[in-house]
Amino acid sequence: MLTLAIVLGALLLPVLVLAEIWRTRRVTVPADAPDTQIDPVLSTSGMSRKILLAMVVLVESFLLFMAYGANEPFRQTQAAERQLEFAQHNGAHTYVQYCLSCHGAEGKGYLENVSLPGKPLNTPELQSNDADQHKANVKMIAQTVENGRGAVMPAWGVSNGGPLNYEMINEINLLITGGRWDLVADIIRAESVAVPTEAPITDPVATGKLIVTAGACSSCHAVAGTSARGTVGPALDGIANRRIAGVLDFTRENMKRWVANPAQHKPGTTMPPYNLRDEYLEAIASYLETLR
Ligand code: HEC
Ligand code: HEC
Repeated sequence: MLTLAIVLGALLLPVLVLAEIWRTRRVTVPADAPDTQIDPVLSTSGMSRKILLAMVVLVESFLLFMAYGANEPFRQTQAAERQLEFAQHNGAHTYVQYCLSCHGAEGKGYLENVSLPGKPLNTPELQSNDADQHKANVKMIAQTVENGRGAVMPAWGVSNGGPLNYEMINEINLLITGGRWDLVADIIRAESVAVPTEAPITDPVATGKLIVTAGACSSCHAVAGTSARGTVGPALDGIANRRIAGVLDFTRENMKRWVANPAQHKPGTTMPPYNLRDEYLEAIASYLETLR
């Protein structure tokens, strides 16, 4: 905008000056008038015209210089965007090499394929634009990748003997918080990377048990005699004998509805929705049905 205004001004100025020269030229000066009657500056006599032209050139150069300066922030933003994209592209390469096998091609971990152990990284929370939330995300991702977490997520930082240096972890961070999963998809396509395939569900109860006790649900729920020891939500023992969260009768269909969207049945609940394929919901319900 500012650049445009300055360029317009720069174009207008010579027009004005020319118009002025034209105007003073038309002031008819009696042929026999003495030289002193002619305005020494605006007269069209050789010398002052040169001075005027020199001034115009000077002002023009100044205006063009200003226009260049005003355009600078825009160019800088563009350069920063290119740099960000470059870093995210590097991050995508690192992701495909080291993280894909557990967190999945879409970054959705067990939500995209329940046989993957990784947590979803492609979430609205991790892509939040809120400054505080973003800062917390960056810190959490850097620390988790550097040091690992729990029994499955490895430590990747060089400080822990891993392959990823500070810069590479930063690039992964930019990829995840920027939500550039399209870049990961590009690399998978371009390099024909093998994407983890889903284990076919042959035994729904066993698959359901895996999801509930060793995957998506175990961080919040406990089931006696299994690795699920979460305490955020109620223990699921005997769930088939009671109403689901006090709001739905226990049936297989209701169980699937609850897991897919708890808040729809109990507004304000802190249990997150699970956007899983129907067979997975079916498997979960089949397993929970056995908890009598
Ligand atoms: C061997 C499987 C595996 C690999 C490979 C793996 N992760 Fe993980 N990751 C996990 C598991 C499991 C968790 C959940 C850990 C927990 O909370 O107990 C996790 C959690 C995370 C989290 C925390 C997410 C959150 O919201 O709490 C981040 C970030 C993460 N991984 C990033 C990465 C990155 C980046 C890579 C590649 C450099 C990677 N992971 C490779 C299994 C893996
Ligand atoms: C982030 C924590 C969290 C996760 C993860 C979670 N839940 Fe929940 N769940 C809750 C909370 C909290 C409640 C209690 C809901 C209420 O009453 O508002 C709940 C309630 C339930 C209930 C009803 C329990 C009862 O005693 O009535 C079932 C069934 C259930 N969850 C199944 C699951 C399944 C299956 C998964 C995994 C696909 C899962 N939950 C993942 C937090 C979680």
